[in-house]
Amino acid sequence: MLDTITIRQMPFDFPDEIDPVFIERDHQRSFGFIAGSLLLPYLEPYLIRSMKAAQKHVTDPKVLEGLKGFAAQEGQHYRMHMKFNAAVKRAGFPGLEVLEKELSDDYQRFTKTKSLRFNLAYAEGFEAITMNAIKSMMGENGFGEDLPDYMEMMEWHFVEELEHRTVAFDVYNDVCGGYFYRLFVGAWAQWHFISWIKRATRYMLKVSPQPKRSAKEIAEQKAADLMGNASSVRRLIPALLRTYLPTYSPHNVEIAPGIQTLADKYTAMAIKTS
Ligand SMILES: [Fe+2]
Ligand SMILES: [Fe+2]
Repeated sequence: MLDTITIRQMPFDFPDEIDPVFIERDHQRSFGFIAGSLLLPYLEPYLIRSMKAAQKHVTDPKVLEGLKGFAAQEGQHYRMHMKFNAAVKRAGFPGLEVLEKELSDDYQRFTKTKSLRFNLAYAEGFEAITMNAIKSMMGENGFGEDLPDYMEMMEWHFVEELEHRTVAFDVYNDVCGGYFYRLFVGAWAQWHFISWIKRATRYMLKVSPQPKRSAKEIAEQKAADLMGNASSVRRLIPALLRTYLPTYSPHNVEIAPGIQTLADKYTAMAIKTS
């Protein structure tokens, strides 16, 4: 299920300015979501650079085909997130610029000074954790009907992450290989980008603090949360731990048939596909 990589140019449009607290009265999770989105215009181009550098070393034609699809999909993702991020940043948070510069410098430095093996292991560290988290968050059928634009954008992005779920793993193994190296660099990569997301979230909360909420309000918001309901959290931990095992392969991750339905929906919605 979900074994082709389709590059979709999507028509999502955002208002000029987006209220950064788009989950009502929940600054914490709104800003966490935004920080994740802010990461992508730096991280995804870095992944593309790593893949392009690996391209001439790939021996398996199927892996090469996947690599090209991966790079093209990630290219669409970060451009769309840039549009969303620009709309959010018009609402304030000038200090994000310094944090973003730091992140951009990190990724440029990795491309220039780190080995291809490191960069590919970083890529798989990111892909493994996000793909498995996405699978848990989406469940059998995704986030449901009548989603706000930003959630539809996420759902489209997530579907494509699932479509290219095996690429970074296969490229690493085809070009370099080695379980322990991938494990350590992958875990470091996860620490690296998660700490950045946390810092960006903390900064936004300092500028616009979380108002006090009652326990009841917190519980209600959690229950209504499209991306983090209790059952998905229960599924998430074992799924993430599995990615550290020597037997882990994204080829063995099963994708629910409902996700293919979503992939078809976004193909139909796209302005252009290839
Ligand atoms: Fe992506
Ligand atoms: Fe990806």
